[in-house]
Amino acid sequence: MAPVKVKKICCIGAGYVGGPTCAVIALKCPHIQVTIVDLNQSRVDAWNSPDYKLPIYEPGLEEVVRQARGKNLFFSTDVDKGILEADLIFVSVNTPTKKTGVGAGFAADLNYVELATRRIAAVATSSKIVVEKSTVPCRTAESMRTILEANSKPNARFDILSNPEFLAEGTAIDDLFRPDRVLIGSLQTQEGIDACTSLAEVYANWVPRERVLTVGLWSSELSKLAANAMLAQRISSINALSAICEATGANIDEVAHAVGYDSRVGPKFLKASVGFGGSCFQKDILNLVYLSESLHLPEVAAYWRQVVEMNEYQKRRFAKKRIAVLGFAFKADTGDTRESASITLIRDFLSEKAHVNVYDPKVEGEQIWQDLAEAIPGTPLETIKKSVTIHNGALSACTGAEAIVIATEWKEFRDIDWQAVYDSMNKPAFVFDGRMLLDAKKLREIGFNVTVIGRGDRL
Ligand code: UDX
Ligand code: ADP
Repeated sequence: MAPVKVKKICCIGAGYVGGPTCAVIALKCPHIQVTIVDLNQSRVDAWNSPDYKLPIYEPGLEEVVRQARGKNLFFSTDVDKGILEADLIFVSVNTPTKKTGVGAGFAADLNYVELATRRIAAVATSSKIVVEKSTVPCRTAESMRTILEANSKPNARFDILSNPEFLAEGTAIDDLFRPDRVLIGSLQTQEGIDACTSLAEVYANWVPRERVLTVGLWSSELSKLAANAMLAQRISSINALSAICEATGANIDEVAHAVGYDSRVGPKFLKASVGFGGSCFQKDILNLVYLSESLHLPEVAAYWRQVVEMNEYQKRRFAKKRIAVLGFAFKADTGDTRESASITLIRDFLSEKAHVNVYDPKVEGEQIWQDLAEAIPGTPLETIKKSVTIHNGALSACTGAEAIVIATEWKEFRDIDWQAVYDSMNKPAFVFDGRMLLDAKKLREIGFNVTVIGRGDRL
């Protein structure tokens, strides 16, 4: 049989991965109908909102949705209809770290993947290509296959592909428009290779052929964990060096620049920070640790675990100081707060009995309360609210504070009227720049006592 020509795509999960990815597929493939389904009614309503108040913030996303929605891009809560009609189904549901049971704190919680897979098996009446898009531990595709095969109807056969998404939040649309690579893993059977060709054809509408890499199913699954682990490892390495810089008077920016000039190392992803956050790095490394342990490779597990431990150390180091926190998202140009360093910082400030003023240009107040309540279990939200104030501007957040921490590298923080901020603060006024964002020299001239991550006092 020749590879299927994909005409209808269904994406299960309208989150940070499924939403932008499938919106871009719709834009780039006008001949394919793309339906993104999600159980969460309010999320779907937001994707469908007449004034494009989308549930996630991502530069360029609104433009893409404006162009495709209603033409060949649809958002719905009718999961079954989406499954029934599609030739190809992306599974883009959440895979958080398990909170309880075997592997708690390390392994990925595959409940959502399993539920979505069972739904596909129960509903599908014809053959489908099922694509795992969510980052999953190795061999998840195998379990999906078992579920699908055990529950399928006659005439319905399933081919499973792994197609991990490498987009980074904040640059998702650019990353999707011009990916470094698209990775597709399949079983190396004729059916598997045909399914792989069908999906490769979809990407070929805008991605150069040589950037579409086709590999075995397990290699594809492991590559995603490996890529994230190695990126995070670079950050932990540079953060470890930042502590040495602070103790010696060396400048981490200069060190990173010098090291990154080696073409074998490269300049990207060497920015010292208050620690990495986001929904992927920590989760994926812990997944790798869990996998290594399950495979009886304790040295390998310990090696990767240390990348996360270094990150915890870096977050703690910064928390010793005090306390207008500018930025709550885990990085600039996103409203996403999952695993954001700010959460840990504020929690630690609160345990030091500090009062914290928070301002972030994109994160909603409700989200901040929810994150803090989760981070400080056992303390009622009302109590937390007594020690934390959310502000709608940087100047008001800094007024009356003794110290400012730059926790997210939002560009607008660079352009604050720093003289006005200084005048409004208690003296001595400290700035801790956890993102190497600000012009430290200018701030010192105003009178601030400035500490920049990874720089010694002998600047
Ligand atoms: C990451 C991967 O980059 C992406 O390929 C994968 O698909 C998902 O995980 P994401 O977490 O969205 O993407 O953002 P990323 O830009 O990688 O940043 C992660 C964290 O590392 C952020 O908190 C960021 O501020 C921090 N970081 C990044 C640094 O501290 N220093 C750096 O040099 C780079
Ligand atoms: P990610 O960052 O991986 O995209 P998100 O949490 O942003 O994760 O999005 C995952 C989405 O998947 C959520 O909106 C959730 O409601 C949805 N979801 C989870 N399980 C199912 C399911 N069985 N059917 C449909 N949608 C689901």
